[in-house]
Amino acid sequence: MSVWIYPGSFDPITLGHENIIARGAKLCDTLYVAVLENHSKHPTFTTDEKIELIKECTSHMPNVVVECFSGLLADYAKQKDADAILRGIRNTGDYEYEHNMSQLNKKLNSNIETVFVCAEPELACISSSSVKEIAKLGGDFSWMVNKNIYNKLKDYINRRK
Ligand code: PNS
Repeated sequence: MSVWIYPGSFDPITLGHENIIARGAKLCDTLYVAVLENHSKHPTFTTDEKIELIKECTSHMPNVVVECFSGLLADYAKQKDADAILRGIRNTGDYEYEHNMSQLNKKLNSNIETVFVCAEPELACISSSSVKEIAKLGGDFSWMVNKNIYNKLKDYINRRK
């Protein structure tokens, strides 16, 4: 039984994340999508909201489990007896950062491998922060997130106007 972890802040989950989850879930038996708690002091969505949104987007994938974690990812991976951490790579900047993180995680937990999946070209420019910026400034972000998230983010922004 292979267990993989796809960690992140997911504030909010984007179509880029969803694509990596769908591709990763085909490569392992169980994929934990793990939301980092308290990653930023000012997240747009609470951890519970993020988990709820990710569950809605992944409900058609039976081997995907959505949870939160705190502390070191390497320790969470040990707790889950995981074989690998899954990360998406959009560009060379991501690669440099992720390469370093994978080495740190390997030092902290020698049993863990990091598996990198390259983003689909049409999704490679999407990030949670660009979604929020475009949404706040009134641009079209419907091509960046799932319809449900689009509506929730629109509501969220309208409530804060
Ligand atoms: O979606 P993100 O923000 O790129 O995800 C980053 C994340 C959550 C994977 C990373 O910040 C993380 O693993 N944080 C937990 C703390 C940790 O283990 N850090 C690595 C050693 S410095």
